[in-house]
Amino acid sequence: MSRPSGATVSYDHPPMPWHVIDIAASSTPTGVRVRGVDMLVADIDGEWFAVEDRCSHANCSFITDGELDATTLICNCHGSEFDFRTGEPLVMPAREAIRTFPIRQGERGLEVEL
Ligand code: FES
Repeated sequence: MSRPSGATVSYDHPPMPWHVIDIAASSTPTGVRVRGVDMLVADIDGEWFAVEDRCSHANCSFITDGELDATTLICNCHGSEFDFRTGEPLVMPAREAIRTFPIRQGERGLEVEL
């Protein structure tokens, strides 16, 4: 019986795929769906940010019931506010952050990691 030989490659963190999203730069949040996940993407002062389109309080959609005021994402369902850049809650009733996603201007265009 022989055993496989050679180097073993291991990853502390498996590489995550970057997905191209085709939108124009805008400080107005744009809704996109990546691999079944609805996101809001916006360019704030030349820097891109992406958050999940789901309020951490009771799952309202920001596209349907929200607005962005500078860097503050407001959920109009019950008044929670979040920092769009970090996802952290600023105003209750939400106590948990919303999900954020790495986003970059890659060689193929704007890309989000998911
Ligand atoms: S669902 Fe957003 S504040 Fe309640």
